[in-house]
Amino acid sequence: MKPAVLFVCLGNICRSPLAEAAFRQEAERLGLAVEVDSAGTGGWHAGDPPDSRAQAVARRNGVEIGHYQARKVTPDDFRRFTHIVALDRDNLADLKRIAPADATAELSLLLDAVEGRVGKSVADPYYGDAAGFDITWRDAVAGAQCLARRLVR
Ligand code: 4NP
Repeated sequence: MKPAVLFVCLGNICRSPLAEAAFRQEAERLGLAVEVDSAGTGGWHAGDPPDSRAQAVARRNGVEIGHYQARKVTPDDFRRFTHIVALDRDNLADLKRIAPADATAELSLLLDAVEGRVGKSVADPYYGDAAGFDITWRDAVAGAQCLARRLVR
């Protein structure tokens, strides 16, 4: 079965779009056939493009994400995706709370894939400065690379 990975943060405008972009890059590099999307546990930004600071850090790293549109996680996501990957521990707790009884997706944290960072959250950069988004990008790439390598095996 072709893997399908959904990255989930709170607003789907900062962290999960960057995880999606980093993972798309890495999957392409590895020749991994995978469906990829991102969503938020909250719906306040539904329909919005990623935060301009997230778009900027992605662009600096060679990826265009301005066409992404935020959306809220749906019950169907838990059946459609093989893996739902939360960016922080609150997101993971919320996902566990809203998962339907017939959910089949495997839930994890992005940094669970990274040796030495199991159980760690990717910090929310929304209320910080632009430099925070460089840290988010680095975390997104670290997680995406380890996760993609794991799925190739
Ligand atoms: P994200 O960041 O969860 O990484 O997309 C946030 C975006 C928006 C809000 C919080 C976090 N907000 O409260 O609107």
